[in-house]
Amino acid sequence: MAYLDNGNQIFKDARKNHYAVGAYNTNNLEWTRAILRAAEETRTPVLIQVSTGAAKYMGGYKIVKDIVEDTMDSMNISVPVVLNLDHGDFESAKECIALGYSSVMFDGHALPTDENLAKTKEIIKLAHERGISVEAEIGKIGENQGADGGELASVEDAKTFVAAGVDKLACGIGNIHGVYPEGWKGLNFDRLKEIADAVPVPLVLHGGSGIPEDQVKKAISLGISKVNINTEFQLAFQGATRKYFEAHKDEDKANKGYDPRKLLLPGTEAITDAMKEMIGWLGTPSIDEELKNAAFDRSSLNEE
Ligand code: 13P
Repeated sequence: MAYLDNGNQIFKDARKNHYAVGAYNTNNLEWTRAILRAAEETRTPVLIQVSTGAAKYMGGYKIVKDIVEDTMDSMNISVPVVLNLDHGDFESAKECIALGYSSVMFDGHALPTDENLAKTKEIIKLAHERGISVEAEIGKIGENQGADGGELASVEDAKTFVAAGVDKLACGIGNIHGVYPEGWKGLNFDRLKEIADAVPVPLVLHGGSGIPEDQVKKAISLGISKVNINTEFQLAFQGATRKYFEAHKDEDKANKGYDPRKLLLPGTEAITDAMKEMIGWLGTPSIDEELKNAAFDRSSLNEE
């Protein structure tokens, strides 16, 4: 039976040891299989997440959880998998907690800070009673809205939300969901450092697609432990699918090139390849390496 990890230990270890674990958005069955395959083949822990829009598209939060768990079983997935609600509102966060997601993000950034905090606290209480991890958002992640990104997260808000008990904190630091616009100013490392110095929890970089590798690595060195990726895989899927059609493979009747299982394959494989490359950027260690280190630590303890 598939077991979902809440990721708390995984992300704490990532923050402590300056690497990150990817949080990859699923959009359908193919996405789910592609993500789990890349995780298993690299032997790395993975967080798979669903936005409210993608969950609606797939038929609801329960079906998403069923698909993830049943796919883990059918593919014999043996690496830790965290299932997270991405940018949940109050109702969807409560629904996913009741369904047994192992992690939820409550995104109250559009609310006045007091209300965001009060609702975050309610979600934390409900989630922690069930061993579920909680991510909150402060500041604002940009939405293709200009070269400056969204609203910068404040250090005060970071302290307040961490004191309230959030397990991971998403911060607006100039990052933007979707494709980065021409002239984007880059991540605000000064603010990231101030926040990382003020709070010990794993920090989350939303809008991880399209940020240059050196900026991603610098952000991780400063305290980013979870990097969210969606657009990157959509572009990988789109590019490979486009090539399939441009080569007229869909018209190859003799080889049943029109069969959806064939049409969707290049895009699905491109997601797995893109994810493996991203795992390299993030420095996510394989669980085998982690176990070796743990064994090493234990043996040195025994020697003392
Ligand atoms: P991108 O689509 O820009 O990768 O952002 C994903 C994300 O942050 C999901 O919360």
